Amino acid sequence: MEKQYKRTTVTSALPYANGPVHIGHLAGVYVPADIYVRYLRLKGRPVLFIGGSDEHGVPVTIRARKEGITTQQVVDRYHELIKDSFSRFGISFDIYSRTTSPTHYKLASDFFRTLYDKGVFVDKVTEQFYDEQTDHFLSDRNIRGECPRCHAKDAYGDQCEACGATLSPEELINPYNAETGNPLVKRATKHWYLPLDKDQEWLEKWILQEHQEWRSNVYGQCKSWLDNGLKPRAVTRDLEWGIPVPIEEAKGKVLYVWFDAPIGYISNTKELCDAHPELGSWETWWKDPETRLVHFIGKDNIVFHCIVFPAMLKAHGGYILPDNVPANEFLNLEGNKISTSKNYAVWLNEYLDDMPNRQDELRYVLTANAPETKDNDFTWADYQARCNNELVAVYGNFVNRALQLTQKYYEGRVPECGALNDYDRETLDEFRDVKSRLETLIENFKFREAQKEAMNLARIGNKYIADCEPWKLIKTDPERVKTIINISLQLTANLAIAFEPFLPFSSQRLRQMIAMDTFSWEDLGSTTLLPSGKQLPKPELLFTKIEDDVVAAQIKKLEDTIKANEEAAYEPAPVKPDIPFDDFEKLDIRVGIVKACEKVKKSKKLLKFSIDDGTGKMRTILSGIAQWYEPEQLVGQRVLFIANLAPRQMMGEESCGMILSAVNWNGDLNLTTTMGEVKPGSIIS
Ligand code: 2FM
Ligand code: ZN
Repeated sequence: MEKQYKRTTVTSALPYANGPVHIGHLAGVYVPADIYVRYLRLKGRPVLFIGGSDEHGVPVTIRARKEGITTQQVVDRYHELIKDSFSRFGISFDIYSRTTSPTHYKLASDFFRTLYDKGVFVDKVTEQFYDEQTDHFLSDRNIRGECPRCHAKDAYGDQCEACGATLSPEELINPYNAETGNPLVKRATKHWYLPLDKDQEWLEKWILQEHQEWRSNVYGQCKSWLDNGLKPRAVTRDLEWGIPVPIEEAKGKVLYVWFDAPIGYISNTKELCDAHPELGSWETWWKDPETRLVHFIGKDNIVFHCIVFPAMLKAHGGYILPDNVPANEFLNLEGNKISTSKNYAVWLNEYLDDMPNRQDELRYVLTANAPETKDNDFTWADYQARCNNELVAVYGNFVNRALQLTQKYYEGRVPECGALNDYDRETLDEFRDVKSRLETLIENFKFREAQKEAMNLARIGNKYIADCEPWKLIKTDPERVKTIINISLQLTANLAIAFEPFLPFSSQRLRQMIAMDTFSWEDLGSTTLLPSGKQLPKPELLFTKIEDDVVAAQIKKLEDTIKANEEAAYEPAPVKPDIPFDDFEKLDIRVGIVKACEKVKKSKKLLKFSIDDGTGKMRTILSGIAQWYEPEQLVGQRVLFIANLAPRQMMGEESCGMILSAVNWNGDLNLTTTMGEVKPGSIIS
């Protein structure tokens, strides 16, 4: 039998405070965690939802150097931005703190010290890359060098972008500091390791035998780590930014970010409980075996939450281990990978500004497309279609019809329910079953399916009202119409409850529209939620359409980012080998004036120019620039052309020379011209 827990501690991965959060974070971690927590609260189960920023690690220091500000300024800026965006988006954390808090410094430091005193760590001296000019050891990400495979000069310590090879920093030829360009040497340094090899046996039993219910992606990744054999992992680093290692011998070293970050879940719980004694001691939430611990994370964090952190907790002693780790796969954006460093994302803070009061639209689409079992793609076209065809046309439409008809026929009062016919009963039965279906799905972390179930209820409601056609019966059978509207209103109240964990903003609006002050999950399926005679306020639309221009603007924003990235990455072609001056003199380059210009039939590329070349006769030149100019706009322009290029046949026409264009970074052609009014036939020298 499944264990019954008294309370649940829910954690969601602490995002690095090196940039705003984006839809990939939301779909992978925060929206599912929030659905789960809201559901538990609605059921009246004790739960804490713990969040916070991960403020250590190399990503934040890289961002600081890139922006030319201090690391502290970076984490202060992004912590506030992320915290504020989550709150505006309705991610209902009980606490959102940070790993630079004093509580965390102390707890993480003490945690290390306990393991050290228990003799858990093994220490080892290894040779690491060192920049003698700046007196720094380097993290793998900051090391570059020549690729041993394709000899590109700027391969990363872990990968060569030119040939795709996976590398380790040791393999690079002539390694250098990516930021300063300084050459690197090897230097001995001592670090402390968590000997995971010693945890192999119990982890195998605990995960592979006792947690076969974990999602297949999570279980599969753990199995593959375990099958490969666990190895000791260093938990200290030679960096300046981080929590100092609390032993004399490790002066100048800090805790590895992946050692301190998960302890942040505990520190943040402590901070919360210390400020709110009514929640009980933080230790109850982390040490009592009757507490269920659930970590919501993305797939890149699986090993840390399923293997490393449990090994730390077990080594420390006294802590519970996670009961489940529902990790999601990744969300792509318009077919491309989301990237913080390339600024390619839909940023939550920008979405909230660009789309005011549309939190639920994004929550809905991210859950409908949640990458629960495989990577998925977010597209703005799909966002628009789901909002307009599902939220507006199904859920919103049903609710609006029920409420408008109540206003129209009964001045906003809930009518009495009379005798039910078979169709009424069938419809109500479908609603009654939904509670247990939703519970099973949510408790098994199948949020995508669960939301589909809720939307199905709205579909049933929509069909019911459309099939019953109360607007036709109102003259002939007004008593029947009362029953139809009463049932429709009861269904509406059910929808407000069923959607509450998924779409909290619209559920709240809907509850106001049906004057439902109190509600609970247990009410779901009830057909007597709204007593007859109850006066309802004037309804408003629950959802409004997303217009084409709004979506087009968002798509343009992404396209502009791709263009800007391509432009930034562009490097001009290397200069060709030297030529003797005589070779240059062989070329006869001149100025001409375009007298006529037209498209060449059957060619998408070519324009045919008639040029006054100063000889008194017209010269014909064909040039492949039709994609960039309309022929009319070129007439009268001065152009530069090679006058002594041997004539060539092109598309059945003879071209005498070549017009010169500059090739822009993206391949676009730009005609070259003179700055002043130079006579046709003038020589370019
Ligand atoms: O991958 C990340 O964004 C990490 N900052 C997640 C840390 S989760 C936890 F351990 F804090
Ligand atoms: Zn290479």
